[in-house]
Amino acid sequence: MPITDFLVARDDIARTKTAAREFPVLGDGEVLLELERFGLSANNITYATLGDAMGYWRFFPAEEGWGSVPVWGHAHVVGSHCAGIEPGMRYFGYYPLSTHLVVKPERVTPNGFVDGAAHRAELPAVYQRYMLVPEDSEVGGNAEDQQSLWRPLFLTSFGAADFIEENGAFEAGVVVFTSASSKTALGTAFCLNRIAGALELVGLTSAANVEFCESTDYYDRVVSYDDLSAIGEKPFILIDFAGNGAVLDAIEEFAGDRLLRTIIVGGTHWEDRERSLTAMSAGTELFFLPTWIVKRSEDWGPTSFMERGEAEWEVFAPTTETWLTLEEHTGLEGIENAYQLVLAGESRPDVGHILEFG
Ligand SMILES: NC(=O)c1ccc[n+]([C@@H]2O[C@H](COP(=O)([O-])OP(=O)(O)OC[C@H]3O[C@@H](n4cnc5c(N)ncnc54)[C@H](OP(=O)(O)O)[C@@H]3O)[C@@H](O)[C@H]2O)c1
Repeated sequence: MPITDFLVARDDIARTKTAAREFPVLGDGEVLLELERFGLSANNITYATLGDAMGYWRFFPAEEGWGSVPVWGHAHVVGSHCAGIEPGMRYFGYYPLSTHLVVKPERVTPNGFVDGAAHRAELPAVYQRYMLVPEDSEVGGNAEDQQSLWRPLFLTSFGAADFIEENGAFEAGVVVFTSASSKTALGTAFCLNRIAGALELVGLTSAANVEFCESTDYYDRVVSYDDLSAIGEKPFILIDFAGNGAVLDAIEEFAGDRLLRTIIVGGTHWEDRERSLTAMSAGTELFFLPTWIVKRSEDWGPTSFMERGEAEWEVFAPTTETWLTLEEHTGLEGIENAYQLVLAGESRPDVGHILEFG
C-alpha cells in the first residue's frame, strides 16, 4: 500500500495507529505531494487537543474516531493534473501526518499556491498556503529543518509581541510568560525585547527548566511555578502558553488586581487544562495568530506581516544556535517515539524534533 497515515484516537490522543491506503486517482486540477521532513513540538499536540474545539481535525479528515495531527514541513510533487505544477517541485506548508497529501491548487504563482479543497474552505487562510521551495534549497538542510520547526512558532511570537506592543502592554511594566521554556514563548520574549525594550520580562517555568530559560538570556528573570511570589509586587500582564488551570488559579490568587490582563496563546500543559478556552475569566483574551494576520493584512497590506516576521526571524535564528539542537526521528517507530515523547512533555526544551517517514 503506497500511502501510510499516522493516526491518533480523537478521544485519547496517546493512542495511535498506522493505516495504509492505495494512491488515489487524481482528479482534474489535483496534485499529489509526498511529505519529506517535518517538525514536531507541543504546538502539534495543541492541534490535537483542540482538534474538535478549533477545527484542527477538519484539515485532513480521517476515518471515524481518528485524527491526523497537522504538521509543518516540506513535500515534493509526485503527480500533477494542475497546470504550472510539475513533479519534483517542492512546497513548504501544512501537511497531515501521512506520507502523502492530495491538494487542489488555486492561485498558482511563482511563489506557491493555495489549496482550494472544498473541506478546507472555511478554515483559516494561513494554513492553506503552500510556498514553493527554491530549486537551490538544500533538501533536509539545516535551514529547511529550522523552517519546519520554527515558522509557525516564531511568526506567532512575532505576532504576539506585536499585539502586546500595539496595546501599549496594557499599561503594565512587567510581562510574565508561562511555559517560558517553550519555543513560542522564547521567541515572544526575544521579539518583545526588540520592539518594547522597556518591559521587564519574567519567565515562569517548571523547576527543571529554570536553568535552561536563564541560559537563553531572553528573559530578565526566570521563576519556577512553585515560587510564584518571586514574580514580585509590580502589576503585570500574563502571556499564557501552558493553559494549566491550577497555575492560572494560583497566579490570579497571588496577584489579585495586579494581574492586568491574561493573554492565552497556548496550552502546553494539556493534561492540566481545567479551564475552557471559550469560558475565560474577565480580563482574559485569546491570541490566535491567523486572526492577527488578518488584522495586520488590513493595517499593513497583504504581505507585510510575513515580511516583517521573516526579517525578525533572520535576527532571532542565530541566537538559537547557542542553545538548540535538532534531533532526527525516522520511520514509523521514530515518529511514534517522538510523538509520545513530546505528548508526555518529556522532550527537553533545548531540542527541536525533525521527523520523516523515511
Ligand atoms: N495561539 C496561536 O496562534 C499559537 C501559535 C503557535 C503556537 N501556539 C502555542 O504555543 C504553545 C507552545 O508551543 P511550542 O511548540 O513552542 O512548545 P515547545 O517548544 O514544544 O514547548 C515545550 C515546553 O512546553 C511545556 N510542556 C510541553 N509538553 C508538556 C506536557 N505534556 N506537560 C507539561 N508541560 C509541557 C514545557 O515547558 P514548561 O516546563 O516551561 O511549562 C516544555 O519545556 C503551544 O500550546 C502552541 O499551540 C499558539
